[in-house]
Amino acid sequence: MNQVKSILKDFYDIEINVVSPQQGGWASLAYKVSNKNQSYFLKVYEKSRASTPKLTALIDQYVPILVWLIKNSNLKGKISVPMMTSERKYKCEDEYGIYLLYEYIEGETIGDRDLTENQVYQLSKIITELHSYSDNIPIGTDAFIEDFEVPFLPMLRQTLQKGRNDFPSEVWELIHSYILQLNDLIYTLEEHSQNLKNSKLRMALCHTDLHNWNLMQSGQELILIDWEGLKLAPPEADLMFLDDKPYFNEFLRIYRKTHQNFSINPEAMTFYKGKRRLEDIWEFMEQLLYDKQGEQERVITMNYLQEELNEINKW
Ligand SMILES: Nc1ncnc2c1ncn2[C@@H]1O[C@H](COP(=O)(O)OP(=O)(O)OP(=O)(O)O)[C@@H](O)[C@H]1O
Ligand SMILES: [Mg+2]
Repeated sequence: MNQVKSILKDFYDIEINVVSPQQGGWASLAYKVSNKNQSYFLKVYEKSRASTPKLTALIDQYVPILVWLIKNSNLKGKISVPMMTSERKYKCEDEYGIYLLYEYIEGETIGDRDLTENQVYQLSKIITELHSYSDNIPIGTDAFIEDFEVPFLPMLRQTLQKGRNDFPSEVWELIHSYILQLNDLIYTLEEHSQNLKNSKLRMALCHTDLHNWNLMQSGQELILIDWEGLKLAPPEADLMFLDDKPYFNEFLRIYRKTHQNFSINPEAMTFYKGKRRLEDIWEFMEQLLYDKQGEQERVITMNYLQEELNEINKW
């Protein structure tokens, strides 16, 4: 706790007296930190975690875009507000972690609940606005232009080529009957990747992780948070999260008022859905094969993997 206090003092010149741990995600820790005037949300990426370098590599590229959007677009009040350090940096670090500070959002995460009609309307407006920006903004976007690469595919393919004896037996039991389907999916994903690389699609700023755990209701406002995935990508990178929702037609009606003549590119949609599915499967497999896990954690990962594998049957 004292360590959190000194981070705030040393890097942000903010004195705080209350620190309360928050429910973090799988990859980071989080704290609500407050003094009598204000509260903040501190995200901590521990250097001991393997995922940290990848997740923090682009902070200095995407946070300035958030700041720009807050100043220059209608997204002010509808997206998370990052705080800069006293040296006007977007993140800070010590030997233990990498830290990002945000204004604290008083409100509730939507999570498992369905969106209300009003929330659907607000989400539609947020995405419509976000997608009206591309590389025409005065901040560099080169670092996160979609290149349709799927970097984990070679590793996944190699792993699937191994046989029964190379897997812990319970993992083999789980995956072996899906290997053909997985290889099919890898193959089609590579084909789509190649085609999309060669096509000239309209690119826009995309959030790329649009689910209800990244939406908060604060007073009258719906707020979109967790911008680590910000990309310059075809709109399908976001629409893939919405097209199976009951409100998708309503979303499109609002979206098309601004993005007239927009039509979905089915190949981009299929690419993003397949990629997400395989990404999740690979992540669970990696945990089971390479991470040190407790027995209970392992059972949970096995269940998640089973669920994901069941889903590929539906493709
Ligand atoms: N600025 C904020 N103020 C208050 N609560 C927040 C704020 N940002 C995030 N939260 C809460 O913390 C949860 C996790 O935050 P966020 O989505 O940014 O990270 P994450 O999904 O844990 O990311 P990762 O997967 O990188 O660990 C959110 O679902 C939300 O409930
Ligand atoms: Mg999140």
